[in-house]
Amino acid sequence: MKTTDGGYVVSKCRAFLLFIAFVGSLIAVGLLVYFLADRPAASSVTNGASTASPSTSGSSKAEVISSNKNVRLPRAVLPIRYDVRLFPVLEKGNFSILGHVSIDVHCKMETDRIVLHSADIVVDPKSVVVMEHGKTMKTLMVASDGIHYDTEMEFLVIRLCPKHKDKLSKGTNYTLSMSFVGHLTDQLRGLYRSTYKEDDIEKYMAVSQMEPTDARRAFPCFDEPNMKAIFSVTLGRHRHMTALSNMPLINTTQMEGTEEFYWDHFAPSVPMSTYLVAFIVANFTQVAADVGNANWKFNIYARPSARNQAQYASEIGPKIQAFFEDYFQIPFPLPKQDMIAIPDFAAGAMENWGLITYRETALLYDEKKSSVSNKERVCEVIAHELAHQWFGNLVTMDWWTDLWLNEGFASYAEYLGSEHVEPGLKWLQQFVTRDLQDVMSLDALESSHPISVVVHHPNEINEIFDRISYGKGATIIRMLAAFLGEKTFRQGLSNYLKSRQYGNAVQDDLWDALTKQAKVNKVAIPTGVKQIMDTWTLKMGFPVVTVTREYDNNTVLISQERFLMQRSNASSQDKTVYLWWVPLTYTADFQTIGSTWLSDGQTSKKHELSIPIDKSQWLIFNVDQMGYYRINYDAQNWQLIGQQLMTNHSAISVINRAQIMDDAFNLAEAGQLDYMTTLNLTRYLEHESDYVPWDSALSGMGSISSMMSRTSGYGLLKKHFRTIITPLYNKLGFDQKMGEDILMTKLRANAVSWACSMGNKDCISRVVSSYAQWMADPENVDIISPNVKGPVTCAAIREGDEAEWEFALNRYMSSNVASEQAVLLASMSCSEKPWILAKMLEMSLNSTSGIRKQDAARVISQVAYNSLGRYMAFNFIRDKWDELRKVFPTTFSSMSGIIKAVAASFNTDLELKELMQFRDERSASLGGAERAMQQSIDRAKNNLNWMRQNYHKVVDWLQRVY
Ligand code: BES
Ligand code: ZN
Repeated sequence: MKTTDGGYVVSKCRAFLLFIAFVGSLIAVGLLVYFLADRPAASSVTNGASTASPSTSGSSKAEVISSNKNVRLPRAVLPIRYDVRLFPVLEKGNFSILGHVSIDVHCKMETDRIVLHSADIVVDPKSVVVMEHGKTMKTLMVASDGIHYDTEMEFLVIRLCPKHKDKLSKGTNYTLSMSFVGHLTDQLRGLYRSTYKEDDIEKYMAVSQMEPTDARRAFPCFDEPNMKAIFSVTLGRHRHMTALSNMPLINTTQMEGTEEFYWDHFAPSVPMSTYLVAFIVANFTQVAADVGNANWKFNIYARPSARNQAQYASEIGPKIQAFFEDYFQIPFPLPKQDMIAIPDFAAGAMENWGLITYRETALLYDEKKSSVSNKERVCEVIAHELAHQWFGNLVTMDWWTDLWLNEGFASYAEYLGSEHVEPGLKWLQQFVTRDLQDVMSLDALESSHPISVVVHHPNEINEIFDRISYGKGATIIRMLAAFLGEKTFRQGLSNYLKSRQYGNAVQDDLWDALTKQAKVNKVAIPTGVKQIMDTWTLKMGFPVVTVTREYDNNTVLISQERFLMQRSNASSQDKTVYLWWVPLTYTADFQTIGSTWLSDGQTSKKHELSIPIDKSQWLIFNVDQMGYYRINYDAQNWQLIGQQLMTNHSAISVINRAQIMDDAFNLAEAGQLDYMTTLNLTRYLEHESDYVPWDSALSGMGSISSMMSRTSGYGLLKKHFRTIITPLYNKLGFDQKMGEDILMTKLRANAVSWACSMGNKDCISRVVSSYAQWMADPENVDIISPNVKGPVTCAAIREGDEAEWEFALNRYMSSNVASEQAVLLASMSCSEKPWILAKMLEMSLNSTSGIRKQDAARVISQVAYNSLGRYMAFNFIRDKWDELRKVFPTTFSSMSGIIKAVAASFNTDLELKELMQFRDERSASLGGAERAMQQSIDRAKNNLNWMRQNYHKVVDWLQRVY
């Protein structure tokens, strides 16, 4: 029986036969393979032991479980230690997992059954044994019909025999063991297979991705984050392969009856959660990093032909790990750290304790072919996953509801780790555009959600790996560190980790530790950390703080109100009081800084400024944008700020220039600031040459441009943006300068991209000619610097025809560098030939097209971001909905990403109507993308509204200026 993914459903009979072979490892692998491949299917598990068999084809039933059904395991028995033995069979046609697990459990409450997780696994009923620990081990009887799969809940229930009156008694330990067979699918979750070419030969590897709820697909286990246990892992492998797990190898034994296969036995782990367990069997090369005098080893693994791309990671990895040891004041507790680049990987990276897995683009860096942005990505991801080794792995959230604490914290700490090794990238400045401003745009929708969300079902859990958990989480932690002071924050954090190590925590535990430390250090905060932080974690959104100056008496009127892009009836029904504890800072010279708070009971207050300030002097609130809120001013203060920007912008800090740009664009978009003010402010950009303010400005310009790209006003808008960008483009030039600031290199890519797309003639002709040179000399890597390769190929393909696109496709197919491939693939979607875009959409779902499943969602999104492709992509997802659902079973936010990309620029009545109709038709099969759908609809409504309210204002302004 063949499944849709090309793997084979292991028939139960075959499975049973396998166990005989497997349990004692007595049989040659050749025979195992024979059993797996050729036996006829039988209709039910022998022994009559099963009442329901596990679904093997990705249950869709699970989706209809109502969200409040309790999917948590009972707590009658808790795991202490696992002995997991897995043998991934890496043979085409036979991809499967042969497994055995033996779990020591402690009984907390008398019960006649053990309930644990299992999904898409066939357990050999005869192998199931429960032993009672005592002076002698006693075997308990499992009921003859005692093995039950609850496929909806993903439970495996093992019931003791009622006739024998066998029970598990409170306070006693037991060992539960069993053998099983699973699938080694290409679904990028559980223990799965990844494929790549080496010397043109197809190679397979086995790799795992457990977070959040897929360890249960690799072996039966208590798959909840607070059921920590010790894991002793044994992996079976071919003699030419290497096996890796969280802990170091202790010894290797030959599989009995075969010379070809071995068992690798790994040291027992520290107590940890199931979602952090990792298994790998691959034929990779190892690059050993220099760790100085550290107490651990550090290795990077990659495909043999990507070996030379592992250098950068091996340099910064140990440095960042040592940095975090110092930052948290806790040594890394394992004897080794491995980081490995996986050719097929759903997420960006995964923090498995001691064996961190990455997408190739997130770990590998090629000196000649990768860009500064690629380097930045590698650095960021490594720092993020290493931060998790403490925050997440050592101390773990009690349940997924507190996921944001894990991801938000790692997303904050990644900037500290990155700044330590790559200070030239000015991470602490970039924070505001990459996380704070980015997430504000999502959090300004009515369909946003609080950081802290109650979740149950795996779909719901997957759904919260979103920008709110990551970006907003990081942002409010940064705000917290700022108002407590770095020292207090760090000490409190270290105490929290030490007191909870190898255990679990909820957000209140962190708040308690920080409140205590604040008291010790006598930090003045107006109330407890919990009271303050609850307003940011339990409510969605954020405030806009309006500052109205009373120019004659050095006083300001400060008020707060939830910032919404658009207000609908829904928000008038929402009974939440949208007021926050707002830490405010201000300055008039960036030398002296005043501060005050608004409380969660205060809509507004008068405040006498503690700094001397002249009437004619500007005042800026939210110094370096440490707070998560927008600021609006009275017209006169906006004007004063504008004058300063025009005359000497560097009197205002880099971050605040970025903040002013972002606030001005967004306040105008929300109808709270005159567009005139915003557009006038953009004129200062002629003098701006710092990266971060440009980043903010370009994203503001980007949203206007995407609204207007299909309107008659676009020509004038292009002219305006061209006027703004040309001085920057001229200043930075097309070619990289020796020894230039690394952020200038990054900024150049933006300048080239914008100059070309806004129709700068010089830019277009240079791009076209460089690309033509490259086409004539494809192996020459010096023609186009990797740092502008993205914008150059994109523009050349947009300006070009089929040949330009085909050339990029060929380079994509033949490249050995994943980050170069990603750039090429993105650029290919810049084509303005509809049939080419249609071809790309088709390729995304075709497993033989050369586009990996991990990249499919991105390709569709990129086509959708092309203004010509957006509607084609919408039609495509409507047509192929069922197929898409199969390709992305629950792979993270793939579906959400596609929906958002398609609808991002919808701004007509018709588009909105069709989107809503689509939602209604598919409401039953959105599984995990419901919120993304609602957010897309909200966006489309905002856009529509923008067209009604603002389009003409912008065009009027443009007509006056040009
Ligand atoms: N824990 C996540 C990986 C993950 C994501 C698991 C989604 C399950 C579902 C990991 O720490 C992570 O956050 N990775 C990021 C990269 C990071 C730099 C933001 C990712 O995968 O994009
Ligand atoms: Zn993370």
